[in-house]
Amino acid sequence: MEMIEFEHPVARDFVTRLRRKDASPARFRAYANRLSYLLAVEATRDLCTVPAEVQTPLESTLGEVLVDPPIIVPVLRAGLGMLEAFQDLLPDSQVAFIGMSRNETTAEPVFHYSSIPNVAGKKVIVLDPMLATGGTAAAVLEYLFDGKASEVILVSVVAAPEGIARLGVFDNLTVITVCVDRELDSNWYIRPGLGDFGDRLYSDGI
Ligand code: URA
Repeated sequence: MEMIEFEHPVARDFVTRLRRKDASPARFRAYANRLSYLLAVEATRDLCTVPAEVQTPLESTLGEVLVDPPIIVPVLRAGLGMLEAFQDLLPDSQVAFIGMSRNETTAEPVFHYSSIPNVAGKKVIVLDPMLATGGTAAAVLEYLFDGKASEVILVSVVAAPEGIARLGVFDNLTVITVCVDRELDSNWYIRPGLGDFGDRLYSDGI
């Protein structure tokens, strides 16, 4: 596993705005969306292009086009807050869904739904903004690597050291995050964190 702590002053500013407890769901969605554009630039840095002839208004020249764009997998529900930005930058990518929730007693992932296509030999970008215990992320990664995905980039906004450690067992995995926070609390919330990302996107929870 390779870990990238995304170093960018604008990204740090957006995470601080996301942390503010008085950010309304509308503001939270807007900041999450803008931050996701920055993260999408980082996550797509190593994509392959092929040369392509292009006709400008003045002459013909050689450009580049992306080939084999990655499959985007937002982990429901919080990952939906990052999807629009990734789709904007990768308009030809397939989007597949995987629904997991956390058993609030054991913190273990509970599988609900998947629409993942054949990922064999494919690069996959997983959107999972809060990497807490890493239980959900690990279950998603096992699913993708069992399906023979060639490489996975997991994009998060805030990560806990515990979650990062749990994903250390995976090869062909890059984890991108903006902030590595201090710890998980006894309810498996990331501290200082920003509360429940899904609730803050959609229902104004902590
Ligand atoms: N998921 C969240 O949305 N927030 C946390 O702090 C931990 C998991």
